[in-house]
Amino acid sequence: MKIKIPYQDKVTLGYSLARSAGFAVQQLSLPFFEFVTTGRRKSHHALEPQKMRAAYAELFKLLKRDSENIAKGYYPVEVLKPEKVAQHFLRYPRIIYDGYAISKRRSEKDARDFSEEAENFLKDLPEYYQRNFHFQTGGYLTRQSAELYEHQVEILFSGAADAMRRLIIPLVKEALPGDGSGLHFLEVGAGTGRLTRFMKLAYPKAKITVLDLSYPYLKKAQDNLHEFDRLDFVQGAAEDLPFQDAKFDFVYSCFLFHELPHEIRRQVIGEGFRVLKPGGCYGLVDSLQKEDTKDLEWALEQFPVDFHEPFYKNYTMNPMEGLLAAQGFTDIRRDQGFFAKALLARRGL
Ligand SMILES: C[S@@+](CC[C@H](N)C(=O)[O-])C[C@H]1O[C@@H](n2cnc3c(N)ncnc32)[C@H](O)[C@@H]1O
Repeated sequence: MKIKIPYQDKVTLGYSLARSAGFAVQQLSLPFFEFVTTGRRKSHHALEPQKMRAAYAELFKLLKRDSENIAKGYYPVEVLKPEKVAQHFLRYPRIIYDGYAISKRRSEKDARDFSEEAENFLKDLPEYYQRNFHFQTGGYLTRQSAELYEHQVEILFSGAADAMRRLIIPLVKEALPGDGSGLHFLEVGAGTGRLTRFMKLAYPKAKITVLDLSYPYLKKAQDNLHEFDRLDFVQGAAEDLPFQDAKFDFVYSCFLFHELPHEIRRQVIGEGFRVLKPGGCYGLVDSLQKEDTKDLEWALEQFPVDFHEPFYKNYTMNPMEGLLAAQGFTDIRRDQGFFAKALLARRGL
């Protein structure tokens, strides 16, 4: 069947597809550079054409819906504003170089390789967090890691990470319409603030408290979001929030739960429930889980093989919908696109 796409959506979709192609090329280039310089070849198990076709079909659907969401006014076209070209391409060689270090850690299965800078932060942080997630250099604990992180994630998802992050916004806009006047949001595990930016563009008047365990990531988020007002930044743990009961209208996270042990996932949702006002909303974007997909199940199995993600397998087998319901949340709505799902739930009155 021929898909009809209105003109404005065509322009935004065309831009997003070109952007995605750029990141896909960078993704394919990393194993190439590694092979040329070290002779190491990555398994092509995951690159079977049929699997790739299924994945790219999902990617296309996600980018198309993202363009439609802009046209519908859920969020403005500014969410697509690119970073400066020079900044982007000056970072790319650093990412190639970092790729060797990641690959070495992967082949040695070494997920506790920390510099002095990272070691300084480690001692005060929970045990489950003291590791190089994804085998990335510095884990979440250095300025360099924070500088490369967003670009590396976009490479991993062929330029679809931002669109996946935005999946939560239409759900919350239906529940909390308007520009955010008088509303106070809390984002936990905010990292470098990528979803915070999109939330602020969708809700310019909302106050957002931005929380993360990582000082360097939080500092980077502060730099990245300097043009916005009504933001505050708090270093803290999502499972032990330093806030009074019933303070927030909306609590949310993005790509956090798959990196937590099951018991901590439960505690994070419990804390979210506690700090939400009665009637408030709880939202999350995270990886698909086993029950959400047949076509992409291979990717859910491959991900923790290629990247250090010790809690991911358990995450995929324990639906977040069940955890939300068990903590007392009701009216659970969902959406999914490419490798992510978004859930929105209510704390009853
Ligand atoms: C995969 S990153 C996602 C970052 C960001 N939300 C995004 O969309 O790019 C996970 C983030 O969660 C943070 N994090 C992990 N465990 C945490 C916890 N228990 N409390 C608060 N933040 C945590 C990490 O420091 C990291 O910034």
